[in-house]
Amino acid sequence: MAIQLNTNYLKSFIKPQEYEQIAPQIRQADQMLREKSGAGNAFLGWVDLPKNYDKEEFTRIEKCAAKIQKSCQVLVVIGIGGSYLGARAVIEFLRSPNYNLLNKNTPNIYFAGNSISADALDDLLALCEGKDICVNVISKSGTTTEPAVAFRVFRNLLEEKYGKEGARERIFVTTDRARGTLKQFSTEAGYETFVVPDDVGGRFSVLTAVGLLPIAVAGIDIKKLMEGAASAMEKYTSTDLEKNDCYRYAAIRNILFRKGKAIEILAGYEPFALLLNEWWKQLYGESEGKDGKGIYPASVIFSTDLHSLGQYIQDGNRILFETVLNIGDTKKSFTIPNDPANIDGLNFLSGKDLDEVKKTATLATILAHVDGGVPNILIEMDERSEFALGELIYFFELACAISGYVLGVNPFDQPGVESYKKNMFALLGKPGYESMREELNKRLTF
Ligand code: PA5
Repeated sequence: MAIQLNTNYLKSFIKPQEYEQIAPQIRQADQMLREKSGAGNAFLGWVDLPKNYDKEEFTRIEKCAAKIQKSCQVLVVIGIGGSYLGARAVIEFLRSPNYNLLNKNTPNIYFAGNSISADALDDLLALCEGKDICVNVISKSGTTTEPAVAFRVFRNLLEEKYGKEGARERIFVTTDRARGTLKQFSTEAGYETFVVPDDVGGRFSVLTAVGLLPIAVAGIDIKKLMEGAASAMEKYTSTDLEKNDCYRYAAIRNILFRKGKAIEILAGYEPFALLLNEWWKQLYGESEGKDGKGIYPASVIFSTDLHSLGQYIQDGNRILFETVLNIGDTKKSFTIPNDPANIDGLNFLSGKDLDEVKKTATLATILAHVDGGVPNILIEMDERSEFALGELIYFFELACAISGYVLGVNPFDQPGVESYKKNMFALLGKPGYESMREELNKRLTF
């Protein structure tokens, strides 16, 4: 088993009968999911995706990734939210947060369209100068402002550099199967397209072409990633909380939430997990944060954040719990050198492997935080691999859906995201928003 839940450090926070009390709600949530009778049931395509994915498209993704690897030094991936975070999380987790600086035989991968920053766009264009470029634009709706603006810029760049014909060979579009405007535009322009399935929402889409194409371009084995997810899909079917780690995690979250633990911190000890934290925050934040409810998902990377947020976690407002991702076998080892002068007094560490020190630091921190009144859930991942990460992704997705149903929300919509968009369109003068614009302008104070 690549992923296991360790609940040993929860014993002083959750009594055995509390699991029994929440079990019927978990069973009900499972029923809503499996029988597709709950809210948002049109977006359950991710549930059996690890086995029931489009095999023909999967082969096309692998071929296209090989073509991109051969034809460019830079792949610009344009997308935001669920059309951005998963791919970047997996690439950084499995290759490196410094992927673009590595000596490698795959293209650099830059992410665009996830901000409205002219400076960020300018930096990116400078990085692309003199390089052969391909673009993968990813947008289910095709109308999201940030990626749409970036796509205009990079499409113009490619057409100027390679001509319309040449650009056609270098632009790859991942979008809605048939309905979206981007699909129609791509068909007319002759771009190769990949599908975001209708029944898979953005934040659940990392194992579709949305994530898989950029991930494959980075040289990651996407078959193994899917195999890991398929193993999780088989593993987490029982409604017995003793037998199903994934459902137990969903249960624990809700038990703690009801005790006033309103913030969950996903804690990692590896800098390569930083973007995985970001992906997880979107998954849980957008799925559960609605109707005045939801655990606020936060994240840290230790030791970095032990020297910033560590004080608050140990000693601040007791509204937190932690979920610690503990990775058994990372790829490298490093022996701590001896210092004859022992100026830092650390010679007791000489000859020890850095990983061993990290593992001890993890346990030491868990014990300290538990003593400080912070419930700690441990997710043990056996190794840093495609298979294990595939399992973890599915684990989090399934737990999120079950947890959301137990909380009493629709985990598959995101009505709150529209509010800023409407205001922005009104203030920017989009036709149809005139009266709203007048109202908003009256409230603006600068
Ligand atoms: O999870 C979601 O649904 C969102 O985060 C979307 O992925 C995000 O808003 C981008 O949407 P689109 O892919 O339509 O551009």
